[in-house]
Amino acid sequence: MNKNLRPAVVAGNWKMNKTPDEAKALLGEIIPLVKGADCEVVACVPFVDLLVALEATKGTNIKIGAQNCHWEKSGAFTGEVSAEMLKAIGVDYVIIGHSERRTLFGDNDLTVRKRTRAALDAGLKVILCVGEYLEQREQGITTEIVRLQTKIALLGVSAEELKNIVIAYEPVWAIGTGKTATAAQANEVNAAIRELIGELYGKAAADAIVIQYGGSMNAANAEELLSQPDVDGGLIGGASLKAKDFSVIVSEANA
Ligand code: 13P
Repeated sequence: MNKNLRPAVVAGNWKMNKTPDEAKALLGEIIPLVKGADCEVVACVPFVDLLVALEATKGTNIKIGAQNCHWEKSGAFTGEVSAEMLKAIGVDYVIIGHSERRTLFGDNDLTVRKRTRAALDAGLKVILCVGEYLEQREQGITTEIVRLQTKIALLGVSAEELKNIVIAYEPVWAIGTGKTATAAQANEVNAAIRELIGELYGKAAADAIVIQYGGSMNAANAEELLSQPDVDGGLIGGASLKAKDFSVIVSEANA
């Protein structure tokens, strides 16, 4: 696969961190450090930080994303935020199916599919997260799990709509644990996802789709992970909260 066929996307997933004032300050640090990056740079911030983040990044090369959305446009869904609402305030990206949503908040392959549909319909770009539990890796079913998750999420997604999807392979056992997949493990699963995209949409779509790795990626290990042929960027948790570390990862994706 030729990496030049697709620009890398490096996205920070801030998770439940930073008040609006803190978000503004962190973005203020990140902006000059990632200026001129060749890759797409995204910050996925908590809902309450979105407006401040959009304002702070106006005119910069940083895109703003949310971390979840509901599948209905509006209605009696206390505590939820719709894709339409995100689009209306100028958000570009939304993370869907993060393992923390799946594990802690009841998200599953079917709701992930519904959220993906709603986000695409609203005109958002989706960062679709897939990944196996440690037990599943040990059972030797990683590829099957990740293929199934991806296939279900993409049911009904057209080839044209696929252009608005980034897939993030995030092995659950590597998230927030300091344990990264080896570069070879990350590349192997990313390649399997790309192969699936080829089966579903053809070679051009497989060449074009951006597939990130996420899970304890940091300034020290980014170079090796991002140099893999099928790793097209990263979805970064902890290290995205440190401006310098995040900018090092962005520069490795550019390299
Ligand atoms: P960490 O980088 O903190 O392991 O988190 C990864 C992640 O979940 C990104 O979505």
